[in-house]
Amino acid sequence: MSERVSINSCTNLDELEELAGPILPAKSFDYYRGGACDELTLKENREAYGRIKLRPRMLRDVSSIEKKLTLFDCDLSSPIMVAPMAFQMLAHKDGELATARAAASSKTMMTVSTLSTYSLEEVKEASDFELWFQLYVYKDREITRDLVKRAEAAGYKALVVTVDSPVLGKREKDIKNRFDLPGDLTVKNLTLHNLDKFPASGGDSGLSTYIASIYDRSLTYRDLSWIVSLTKLPVLVKGILRADDALRALDSGARGIVVSNHGGRQLDTAVSTIEALPEVTEAVKGRAKLIVDGGIRRGTDVLKAIALGAAAVYVGRPVLWGLTLDGQEGVEMVLDMINEEFENAMALAGASSLEEITNDLIFKSGGEIH
Ligand code: GLV
Repeated sequence: MSERVSINSCTNLDELEELAGPILPAKSFDYYRGGACDELTLKENREAYGRIKLRPRMLRDVSSIEKKLTLFDCDLSSPIMVAPMAFQMLAHKDGELATARAAASSKTMMTVSTLSTYSLEEVKEASDFELWFQLYVYKDREITRDLVKRAEAAGYKALVVTVDSPVLGKREKDIKNRFDLPGDLTVKNLTLHNLDKFPASGGDSGLSTYIASIYDRSLTYRDLSWIVSLTKLPVLVKGILRADDALRALDSGARGIVVSNHGGRQLDTAVSTIEALPEVTEAVKGRAKLIVDGGIRRGTDVLKAIALGAAAVYVGRPVLWGLTLDGQEGVEMVLDMINEEFENAMALAGASSLEEITNDLIFKSGGEIH
């Protein structure tokens, strides 16, 4: 059976992970798949969706389903977006270029990571659609400023500042594997600053050593205001799990919040993102756009996230499995699959537009989800 045939036989995103695993070098698969410590948050992100029950509406004319939206002036075909993910050349030689082309072909937003293996300019060049840029804040503020200015100059439409990584989560597989960038792969955006290689890691994960040496652990909301002051682009803050932090981020000038626990890769036992979302929705009261990531594998997960207040969602690891299996086409397949499931879920729940995905679709008598 050829690789292509076997990808096409997949009927859900979890099957893609099973197929991609054996193709990837173990170090890369462990890096992509893994979470921190006991991986409890990684599992919870999935399991929490399963605990939420839906109250579908009947006889609502779902003969046409509309899922387009405009987010920070970007016209998107769907609220399902590609999460920022590092080092995509570990999955496929075309790495971020292939992901960007796939996202563009379906008018899907991709957020390009600071830790990309092609430069932010190369990725923008490969895409004929809008892109956002994810920013890590370096101790050397000139590097941070330079990344912001380059993203603006290249035509990126928003900045997504990750705030949950003052240090890297304890990813035990990566420590055992001494995770490093193989061959000539680099953190291409940092070549100009001579920070495109991991330093010697001793007994640790190379990425952990890299982050410990150059990311700014002293980051506060004051620095967020500084980043907002550097740019005309909308700034979203990624890694928020509490109402008070969401409000402080908005007071510091952020216009969007990404409710995220970094795919379970940072603080283990942190609350699942779908369980954190209602508190943030309640606090923000429509003042900012909310995005949620972590564990989204099914169309019903997207429906639940929107019903609980998200404007859009990020899908992460499945995109990497598609990329591993078939480059740009593999990513296109992942996006098609989750979008088709989402449309199916909308129709079955009696929602023919995103506006009709309202909180009353969530079954509440269990008490945990409001
Ligand atoms: C990078 O952002 C990672 O989570 O490894």
